[in-house]
Amino acid sequence: MTDVWSPGSWRAKKALQQPAYKSEAEVNRVMEEIAKLPPLVTSWEIIALRKQLSQAASGERFLLQGGDCAESFDQCNSPMIANKLKILLQMSLALAYGSHRRVIRVGRFAGQYAKPRSDDFETIDGTTLPSYRGDLINRPEFTETARTPDPELMLRGYERAGMTLNFIRALVSRGFSDPHRLEYWDLDWVKDSPMAEEYRRIAHTIGDSLRFMEDVVGLHPGEMQWIDFFTSHEGLNLPYEQAQTRHVPRHAGFYNLSTHFPWIGMRTLDLDAAHIEYFRGISNPIAVKIGGIVSPEMLTRLIDVLHPDNEPGRLTLIHRFGAGKIAQFLPPLIAAAQRTGKTILWCCDPMHGNTEMTAGGIKTRRFHNILSELDQAFDIHAANGSRLGGMHIELTGENVTECVGGAREVSEADLKTAYLSNLDPRLNYEQALEIALFASRKMRSMNGHTIPA
Ligand code: PEP
Ligand code: CO
Repeated sequence: MTDVWSPGSWRAKKALQQPAYKSEAEVNRVMEEIAKLPPLVTSWEIIALRKQLSQAASGERFLLQGGDCAESFDQCNSPMIANKLKILLQMSLALAYGSHRRVIRVGRFAGQYAKPRSDDFETIDGTTLPSYRGDLINRPEFTETARTPDPELMLRGYERAGMTLNFIRALVSRGFSDPHRLEYWDLDWVKDSPMAEEYRRIAHTIGDSLRFMEDVVGLHPGEMQWIDFFTSHEGLNLPYEQAQTRHVPRHAGFYNLSTHFPWIGMRTLDLDAAHIEYFRGISNPIAVKIGGIVSPEMLTRLIDVLHPDNEPGRLTLIHRFGAGKIAQFLPPLIAAAQRTGKTILWCCDPMHGNTEMTAGGIKTRRFHNILSELDQAFDIHAANGSRLGGMHIELTGENVTECVGGAREVSEADLKTAYLSNLDPRLNYEQALEIALFASRKMRSMNGHTIPA
């Protein structure tokens, strides 16, 4: 690894999962244009998040990271953004209740537009075209024009990310997220969901506590800044990430100002390659997805390169093994991380290790596997002198049928009724809340409380 880092020093390395753009001049022109636009986030917010993540690592907070596998440009609209915000708010309420900790809300949004693919090409009826890599790169329709990587889409993605974030900030700052108005967060389904009663009980308990603080203690939490929302995406398409990476006034170092919290995906986790080179030099808090291919030796080197100064909140490890593998793979990695002496935030992604194909050829995930991996993650960390400090979930605020199971028992036959994802299957709003209520009960029991059924 060279010592001299710059926002573009990754170019000297092998870059995995990058589109084959036809014109480098066009890529450079788009990058220059993005670089001139105002940033999507500020270094102050990034630093605030880093501090909160450090508190999650020490057990004072809990991280909830969630959103679509991939956002799409078409879904950059008011109801879909609001619904995603609502389900994340509801989940965070449940988690705060169970964990007795403040919850950090991080969306997989405002930039989650690029996807790694197993194959560079897709063949249908004898025609071979580049694979769809997310709306930041190309379009899903199976035509030559749609599938040709277009640098201009980076600019469209940057604009859509800006619009998404603008709407989220407006909703959050004007009362939508005020916990005195919990009914604003309700999605239409809540009233007849099998989870409704448990959720309502939590919401009422919190409402009662608020009234107690205001009426009896005399505090007025309504005047406080209640809710922060942070953004995250996989930092996959490096020209896009580089374009807004720069110095800011009054803080040392370089910041990626297109998101608060970028992560390195599993498919680009190569110690000698471009993604690690890019990520090692930015000052944002960063996350790395780790799975069964990561050995304890590799993890040790990774921590050395990405987390050399043990700066609080800098590194989150998001593990994703699968329900049947976590018990085998996680303990040696926890031990390796402990031997480095560095502080790390551990987060469980119970989605990506549990992807499977049904007999009918539909990509799905089984709810009981997702639940089981998360359940095991809490116990394995506790048994190994570590702590699970967060969860990373692919979800949507819509009524989709992409994952099998859950309280409403979505069956394999049901998958056809509302399968909207172009990529990975997401939990629908009800399954997402069910996972949060489960984690809430789990943390409550680990805190020594007895759990009402
Ligand atoms: C993802 O988060 O959508 C993803 C591709 O995950 P992973 O890198 O863990 O496979
Ligand atoms: Co995914």
